[in-house]
Amino acid sequence: MNFELTDEQLQIQKMTREFAEKKLLPQVRERDEASKFPIEEFKELGKAGIYGLPYPEQFGGQGVGYLPYVLAVEEISKVDASFGIAFSVDTSLYGGSIMNSSAPDEIKKKFLEPIASGRCIGSFGLTEHSAGSDAAGQKTVATKDGDGYIINGLKCFNTNGPLADYTVVYCLTDPALGTKGMAAFVVQKGTPGFTVGQIEDKMGIRSAQVSDMVLENVHVPAENMIAKPGEGFKLAMKTLDGGRIGVAAQGLGIAEGAFEIARKYLMERQQFGRPLCKQQYLGFKMAEMKTDIEMAKLLVYKAAITKDEGKSYTVPAAMAKMACTNVAMKVTTEAVQMLGGNGYMKGYHVERMMRDAKITQIYEGTNEIQQLVISGTLFR
Ligand code: CAA
Repeated sequence: MNFELTDEQLQIQKMTREFAEKKLLPQVRERDEASKFPIEEFKELGKAGIYGLPYPEQFGGQGVGYLPYVLAVEEISKVDASFGIAFSVDTSLYGGSIMNSSAPDEIKKKFLEPIASGRCIGSFGLTEHSAGSDAAGQKTVATKDGDGYIINGLKCFNTNGPLADYTVVYCLTDPALGTKGMAAFVVQKGTPGFTVGQIEDKMGIRSAQVSDMVLENVHVPAENMIAKPGEGFKLAMKTLDGGRIGVAAQGLGIAEGAFEIARKYLMERQQFGRPLCKQQYLGFKMAEMKTDIEMAKLLVYKAAITKDEGKSYTVPAAMAKMACTNVAMKVTTEAVQMLGGNGYMKGYHVERMMRDAKITQIYEGTNEIQQLVISGTLFR
């Protein structure tokens, strides 16, 4: 067992940290207030190849594995969790759907390279208003039409939906078969009948763009079918396993970002004639928070390494997702408390981080769903 990062991994970590501090931090509060996504900055980071980190070079990626991707999401999320989820959905949910699919290599390259190179943005359409935790309850239907398919339905909570050039849409080709009749298609922006619906007004991750996606008689060519009927549900589940590692990294980053703000504040803020960090009860709280963060970090790095080693990562991903996001909620809540009245105000970032942390316990499978996944393996 080796706990050291390689030089290449350290380099990716350093590069994304500097990008986050230089390019994302200065306007993060304004973007949160205006629900505005930093599209130029997103494209800029993409040009450095960051969104293709885990994917093979033959498909336009960097081929360096999932751990470097986790390090990058973590660094970005320390500063801007909205950017973190946009990155994570782009790479692990859109990119993962393509990579995990049984599509021919030329189709994988066609749909992955524009995302891995950062020229285009990807999104993932699984959730529907009546199919959240019960992902099998799909109503979106694809009907055979000549050499292609016609898709009708409505997807919701699509992160990157309004920005996406490419969206993977999971739908039923035979509703009578349920999940056994689920397929997946890539639908491109501008395809007639494919439109952005309601854009969500959210508690946190306010600068991330999340919307309904409406499909009205959307014709897609057969080559856009990346999962054949019967393969779609398993593709979605496998892809979400990778997505959950990304959300875990996001949660870890949020927790670390809030911890660092609290640490500096406790050293500077004078009360009762000395800095707050001299109050032992606050030091003890910080010690507990730091230990929680280190535990969370070990779990998410382990999940990424397990995936990189080609082993089953469903359970490590679920554990990492649950642990890291619970730590994010706990640490951000404590950080607000430690900063007192200042923590509740906008200027110190921790109130935003606390709002951002909440959704990490919910999306890509609520933490109760993670418990279901983990407990399902315990009594075999
Ligand atoms: N990998 C591969 N296959 C899997 C799998 C996995 N991780 N999990 C299940 N499967 C397979 C099973 O083996 C089974 O195959 P067979 O039919 O051949 O036996 C099949 O899928 C059905 O499995 P289940 O019976 O376990 O399925 P289920 O209907 O009971 O659902 C669930 C299981 C874990 C609850 C699942 O529905 C789930 O994960 N729900 C949460 C959905 C979710 O995470 N949604 C988030 C969407 S994205 C988002 O949040 C928005 C965003 O943009 C960020």
